Amino acid sequence: MITLDFTNMMSEAAGSNGLSAEDINSLKHRLKKIHSDIVSRQLPELFFLDLPDQDEDEINAVADSVKNHSDYFLLLGIGGSALGARTVLDALKPFYNLKNSPKIFIYDNVDPNTLASILSIIDLKKTTVNVVTKSGGTVETMASFLILRNALKKVHKDAYSRWIIATTDPEKGILRDIAVREGFRTLPVPAEVSGRFSVLSAVGLLPASVAGINIKGLLKGAKDMFIKCSEEDVWKNPAYMCGALMYLMGQKKNISVLIPYSDRLKAFSEWYCQLWAESLGKDNRGQTPYPSKGVTDQHSQLQLWMQGPKDKVMTFIGIEDYGADISLHNEDIKSLDYLRNHCLGELIKAEQEATELALVKAGIPNMRLNVPLLDSYYLGQLFLFFELVTAVTGFLYGINPFNQPGVEEGKNLTYGIMDREGYEDKKQEVLDYREKIKESKYKI
Ligand code: PA5
Repeated sequence: MITLDFTNMMSEAAGSNGLSAEDINSLKHRLKKIHSDIVSRQLPELFFLDLPDQDEDEINAVADSVKNHSDYFLLLGIGGSALGARTVLDALKPFYNLKNSPKIFIYDNVDPNTLASILSIIDLKKTTVNVVTKSGGTVETMASFLILRNALKKVHKDAYSRWIIATTDPEKGILRDIAVREGFRTLPVPAEVSGRFSVLSAVGLLPASVAGINIKGLLKGAKDMFIKCSEEDVWKNPAYMCGALMYLMGQKKNISVLIPYSDRLKAFSEWYCQLWAESLGKDNRGQTPYPSKGVTDQHSQLQLWMQGPKDKVMTFIGIEDYGADISLHNEDIKSLDYLRNHCLGELIKAEQEATELALVKAGIPNMRLNVPLLDSYYLGQLFLFFELVTAVTGFLYGINPFNQPGVEEGKNLTYGIMDREGYEDKKQEVLDYREKIKESKYKI
């Protein structure tokens, strides 16, 4: 199992920046209530905890048919509908496209240059398009869907719908309606699951299965982590402990750095950042997450962490078995003699340990997750762990971690600019704003 070592979060190690056992125990009462809410699935969105129990046969069957008929698989989605898929692929199938087919592209923006580049690489005659949107109407995803639907129609005529798979709400939404009308294959995103908690649904599992990843392993890992995190006692439950530590630290440290010592977990850091920011940034609360990677960021960010503002809490992810190692041979370069008889795996672990120690010596609290091996089983554990930690931290903040009301205004103004019916007042606001900007004297 993945384990949590929080020694360097405590005052014995981190001095006045650390926490005491009493601080943690002061949350016991609230955690008891949170535990009972989790057990009873008090909020429907807690259903993400049940995703590990799903039957993955349908997803694998759809993936098999994609693999049999396609040279390319293009996922259109954004936020929680894209980050999880990218995370799984980067973690478990690094350099996938260089060695495998179907080649997988994830388009999670509306940058025209990127889509033009993808379109110049793929062969539309052999491309399956997977449109992923829980709500079924997200403007960015629907815009790219329109482009691909049109392009597929040109190539396949009436048969175009065979090349589209819609991953969306089981019953409602614009995409669901189109899918039913036009006869796309569909996979459901369970109605209760919010986007950023959906990686272990068809949202992340279909692309994973297309890439040949063992999705049963992901689910089993998540399941086992949930079992491990089912204790009411915070001292026996790593997710409750991590949530409690982050909540308490959040009172004084407003930046959360996630630093996995693995290239393969860089995308995981980005997935975490969305989860943490969108779930917890409410009511003037929340920490700014920073997606880091060791050892690379030691030569980019560490100076700031060590001697800049003491506003950060660090979460390391260490890998025990990298699954490969390379020895350093050196018989003749005296100045590099100290590297002789070592290997890269030793060096990366030494650097992680040294950085943890240097930080705690400087009074910067940090904790570590020890991952035995980076395979589908342990990646499933990591997903479930961080999802549960996020939910628990949100409950401790007293906010709903599953909504994102703060993103609505920007969406509505965009609809106004794009002339969507019903958003005329938003359009007017934008026109007024443009006038103001035009007259502004603060321009050089
Ligand atoms: O976590 C969330 O709910 C969001 O980030 C969504 O994933 C994102 O906005 C995309 O939404 P949808 O899947 O409805 O297109």
